[in-house]
Amino acid sequence: MNLKHLSKEAEMTGQQVPYLLRAARGEALDRPPVWMMRQAGRYMKAYRDLRDRYPSFRERSEIPDVAIEISLQPWKAFQPDGVILFSDIVTPLPGMGVEMDIAEGKGPIIDSPIRTQAQVDQLRPLEPEESLPFIKQILTALRQEVGNQSTVLGFVGAPWTLAAYMVEGKGSKTYSVIKNMAFSDPTILHQLLGKLADSIATYIRYQIDCGAQVVQMFDSWAGQLSPQDYDTFALPYQQQVFKQVKATHPDTPLILLVSGSAGVLERMGKSGADIVSVDWSVDMADARARLGKDVKVQGNIDPGVLFGSKAFIRDRILDTIRKAGNRGHILNLGHGILPLTPEENAAFFFETAKQVDKLLATSTY
Ligand code: CP3
Repeated sequence: MNLKHLSKEAEMTGQQVPYLLRAARGEALDRPPVWMMRQAGRYMKAYRDLRDRYPSFRERSEIPDVAIEISLQPWKAFQPDGVILFSDIVTPLPGMGVEMDIAEGKGPIIDSPIRTQAQVDQLRPLEPEESLPFIKQILTALRQEVGNQSTVLGFVGAPWTLAAYMVEGKGSKTYSVIKNMAFSDPTILHQLLGKLADSIATYIRYQIDCGAQVVQMFDSWAGQLSPQDYDTFALPYQQQVFKQVKATHPDTPLILLVSGSAGVLERMGKSGADIVSVDWSVDMADARARLGKDVKVQGNIDPGVLFGSKAFIRDRILDTIRKAGNRGHILNLGHGILPLTPEENAAFFFETAKQVDKLLATSTY
């Protein structure tokens, strides 16, 4: 679908094109769109109440009605410009033949980590229609619910980050098992990364076909690689995913996030993503200068700022927006909102961001 046509049609019928899509197209805006990573989650009482009724993460994310309700909790509370599907990056793994669970406070657990050639050979290419029918139901419902008031985001994990979970069997501080594979005999790992890239591209296309208007790829653990190893184990596979998706869905904006990305920011710009999600280890003005004018940016407020005073939160929003400029910027935190964040500060963040045109009226934006 061509966004320009969509916009013309929408303008002709008097409908509004949502802010996030306009920013992704590089339009000059009176304020940036705003959403938060992990905006549905433990800091919200409504989420904690529902979690008591559905204690397993897989139930919460795979029973369509529950996942829809959770995805819409922040939409109902704060009207963000982006509504992200409630799911997890490891959700597609069972469809490739890798059983997993998500443990409270720990994250993904894989009982039989993938470490041998035979295990890599046994992986199945993802067939999302078969293994992820609930994703279609969730995304369809979200699009219906938000209409053109907001933008529905899908997301996936990137090959390196999913491989890290598959090989380590769980989150890690040192990544020593996957680095042992990478730095001694990387043949098996490259095969795994290649297979993951193909299945992730298939999954992104499926999410777009089901209604996702923007898709974010999380390469959370690629910041654990030195830049030269990022060039070998992360970047080529990010490129493989984005190239495959762009071949069939050229008009859907794609975002890339890496945690702790200061050392690899320029490399992220070469991934084929339209938008680079920047974390707070980089000043937004520096990020703009380093990425150049063709790459759009998302971010980059420290999630810890939401533990600060209202005046501090407001000043950081204004500072970030001034540094990012009025084109091609999506206001967000540099990483997910933290579990103990006061809900009223999250509300203040959204309210302030949405009134920023008035707050900036006296200064140059
Ligand atoms: O942004 C959103 O609102 C969408 C929801 C979302 C979740 N996970 C829900 C979730 C997204 C985008 C993710 C992505 C994800 N999952 C990443 C990439 C983002 C990042 O953090 O860098 C990673 C690395 C994972 C793996 C994972 N899943 C971890 C590390 C954890 C946290 C463990 C914990 O309890 O602290 C999870 C579980 C998880 N996924 C939670 C949420 C809201 C927390 C558990 C819960 O609230 O019930």
